Amino acid sequence: MLKTRNCGDLRMTDAGATVTLAGWLARRRNLGGLIFIDLRDRSGLVQVTADPAMAAAYAAAESARGEYVLQVTGTVRPRPEGMVNPNLESGEIEVLAESITILNTSRTPPIPLDDDGYKTDENTRLKYRYLDLRRERLQRNLVLRHRTIKFMRDYLDRRGFLEIETPMLIKSTPEGARDYVVPSRVQRGKFYALPQSPQQLKQLLMVAGFEKYFQIARCMRDEDLRGDRQPEFTQLDLEMSFAGRDDILEVVEGMVTELVPAVAPHKRLLTPFPVLGYAEAMARYGTDKPDLRFGMEIVDISAAVKESGLGFLTDAIASGGAVECIVAPGCASWSRRELDNLGEMARGAGATNLATLGWTAAGLKGSLARKLRPEEAAEIARLCGAGEGDLACIVADKAAVACKALGALRLELRDRLSLAPPDLLAFGWVVDFPMFEWDEEEKRWNFMHHPFTSPKEEHLDMLESDPGAVMSEAYDLVCNGYELSSGSIRIHRRDVQARIFRCLGYGEEEIRQRFGHILDAFEFGAPPHGGMAPGVDRLVMLLADEPNIREVIAFPKTASGADVMFDAPSELEPRHLRELHIRVVD
Ligand code: AMO
Repeated sequence: MLKTRNCGDLRMTDAGATVTLAGWLARRRNLGGLIFIDLRDRSGLVQVTADPAMAAAYAAAESARGEYVLQVTGTVRPRPEGMVNPNLESGEIEVLAESITILNTSRTPPIPLDDDGYKTDENTRLKYRYLDLRRERLQRNLVLRHRTIKFMRDYLDRRGFLEIETPMLIKSTPEGARDYVVPSRVQRGKFYALPQSPQQLKQLLMVAGFEKYFQIARCMRDEDLRGDRQPEFTQLDLEMSFAGRDDILEVVEGMVTELVPAVAPHKRLLTPFPVLGYAEAMARYGTDKPDLRFGMEIVDISAAVKESGLGFLTDAIASGGAVECIVAPGCASWSRRELDNLGEMARGAGATNLATLGWTAAGLKGSLARKLRPEEAAEIARLCGAGEGDLACIVADKAAVACKALGALRLELRDRLSLAPPDLLAFGWVVDFPMFEWDEEEKRWNFMHHPFTSPKEEHLDMLESDPGAVMSEAYDLVCNGYELSSGSIRIHRRDVQARIFRCLGYGEEEIRQRFGHILDAFEFGAPPHGGMAPGVDRLVMLLADEPNIREVIAFPKTASGADVMFDAPSELEPRHLRELHIRVVD
């Protein structure tokens, strides 16, 4: 090795030792004849001091610039009185350089490598990702990612799971996104699909008798990107045979409960994780991935206003809808502009209108203040627990529309009022999802999870007659407003699987072509099985307190799915296209 010690590990107890270090020049100051260099390696920083008395070392220090790669041999010594840096772990000592070798030079980095670098345009950060990754924060994130994955592997190994790799060149696996496809050179006009997840492969491993499988699986999905989505991402994919829903929840909850204190001890989590039905989550939080770190639940106040004579409230109720409400604590005194702004937000989230009612020492405020009878306002306050200073945000519509809009407003208020404790990871299970949702555009039923999810046994006979009423054996793990994981008990009977495909509108020929392999497998003693797949990127993002998953992925894509460092995707040479039997048309 070109070094005997790591920079960031040196402490007072090393005083007097001769060490050889190697790393990057993070900062250089020339003060009163002495040159101070902050030398950085993966472990952190240490101050190296070059004294003109050591002429060769001093000359090297003088010519070195930011991000030069240096090898330094010297003696560890306590820093002089008053020079201790309490912000640096190695801040009590410095290394007096006896020799400094410049191992490599560096151009001036195009992005600052300190925390200011985060203000740099993200495309530039990603173009020079190898520099961006030199930042302490990103180094810390990738260490955390490593520890998280290692913990998962060890935990699942202890629980009897086997890690098994599955192929990347396969056939379409419907997970709700478009496939990335790879043309075959040897089979003209034929394409592989990259896995959107190893879903079918892990089920086939259950048919093969492995009973407990996991994989740190790369998944590829051509879908619209946002902060918590990448076109390629990583799942902890797992599957168990002879297990019911609660067995799978127990494995995952147990893993997460042990993982958090082990890798992110600054985070709190509440156990056991609460279990919410899908319908309950939608009614109380307006979303199937609620942020459970704070209350502000949606309350149905239809009963309080049904006699109010206010058309927009009573019409909604009369046409089968509801009047729903959340209470923003301490916001009764918000200005007209702030209230208008909330209204705009609510409309953006699908509400026709937002009504408000505030309780202040001077009486009622808000758009309903003069329209409701005092006893109606009092009943609203009672139903939703509002007190003086609070503001009720009210939407009258179809219940689902009203709850969705208030769910979005709830998150906005969370951020404005800092309602979510930042150190808390509020995990929760959402269960009992509908099997299908109606696709208005395509005028057909679509799966809500994926087509291998089992319907509830007792709902099997409604599959064809009333698909909308069929509930599935799917479950999600949510945390702080993100869907962290989803899974289900699977179908293991051929006849049921074929019926599901038919409900989804696949013809017999398409079923045979696309899913023949799994239907065949179900004819050979497929065991009952189920599983789930926590998203590793999203979990590490939450553990690392990052606002998006790009900060916990070494080489992420931009929002338009591009790799700006490699300049991918890129065009192919005509020769290469010919070889793949492909012609690009406009
Ligand atoms: P699902 O599609 O819900 O289920 O994905 C499971 C988890 O993977 C993560 N995830 C993503 N992370 C980053 N970028 C994306 N584009 C992305 N898409 C999904 C989320 C999500 O909760 N085969 C099933 C699982 C199963 O049934 O076992 C599946 O893939 O954290």
